[in-house]
Amino acid sequence: MRASANASSAAPHTPVLYQEVLAALQPKAASRYIDGTLGAGGHAIGILDASSPTGQLLGIDRDPLALDLARERLMIFGDRVHLCHGSFSEMVSHARAIGWDEVDGIILDLGLSSMQISDDARGFSLKNEGPLDMRFDPSQILTAADIVNHYSERQLADLIWLYGEEPQARRIARAVAANRPLKTTRELAELIEQIAGRSRRRIHPATRTFQAIRIAVNDELHALECGLSEAVSLLKPSGRVAVIAFHSLEDRLVKQYFRKESQECICPPSQPICTCGHHAQIRVITRRPIRPGEDEVARNPRSRSARLRVAERL
Ligand SMILES: C[S@@+](CC[C@H](N)C(=O)[O-])C[C@H]1O[C@@H](n2cnc3c(N)ncnc32)[C@H](O)[C@@H]1O
Repeated sequence: MRASANASSAAPHTPVLYQEVLAALQPKAASRYIDGTLGAGGHAIGILDASSPTGQLLGIDRDPLALDLARERLMIFGDRVHLCHGSFSEMVSHARAIGWDEVDGIILDLGLSSMQISDDARGFSLKNEGPLDMRFDPSQILTAADIVNHYSERQLADLIWLYGEEPQARRIARAVAANRPLKTTRELAELIEQIAGRSRRRIHPATRTFQAIRIAVNDELHALECGLSEAVSLLKPSGRVAVIAFHSLEDRLVKQYFRKESQECICPPSQPICTCGHHAQIRVITRRPIRPGEDEVARNPRSRSARLRVAERL
């Protein structure tokens, strides 16, 4: 009998670009897939359904609470599902631990889930009162409070500029340093609102700073760099990796990685003879990123900044 679960009915998190991810990965029976950002298991359900009755999936997440929820939602698929608490940046060893040397498809749906944003105690949301936490993995030592209250003003300014692309990074860092210790997300958001002002910008003035601190707490860009290279090394020929990014820093990193790994030679154009020894490993399937349509954005406003890029192993 074909097991079937619904990815969106009563889902605590609506999977973004769901049909587009399935169209990209083309899941098939008797194949192996990795969902490196399992979350509530929305994309995983789609992959398992489409690869019935014998496709298998390894779901990885840094957040044990997400894994608990996904475990329940994916129970219907029985032993076709393997779950792992860890980072996709180490997916090769997570796959080897269950005896997999190569896989047919990989999805990375970056960032955080609706469950994480709406849980005030996790400290991700600038709209609610919560501790300055922002860890995907609550067993990690570094929290947002450590960064906000102990980094030097200079370190803070650099981080907010680099990871938030916030033009007022220096002013914000100065204000934070002058008002420490800060304990809650609301204190931080209100302080930034006071000094950066509620301009006509649509987004809250603290949005970019919160993004920057979250990226730093979870070392997200480094994890993504490692994750992309591990993903490509695990794919079978014709296997595909699909990555959904939610901000330009992530998307740029994915685009540049795909471009580099799809080139035979990465020597500077001015160099007459190739000395790099580089070889193309992938073919880029999406010349431009796939964006959600108006319907999806209306149904799920969180999807509005999503960009999906797909590559295929040569
Ligand atoms: C946008 S949600 C994924 C939602 C999922 N696709 C769904 O349909 O339910 C992103 C998830 O990735 C997890 N995550 C973020 N960085 C990670 C990493 N480096 N390794 C593993 N999981 C990560 C977060 O904890 C979060 O649960």
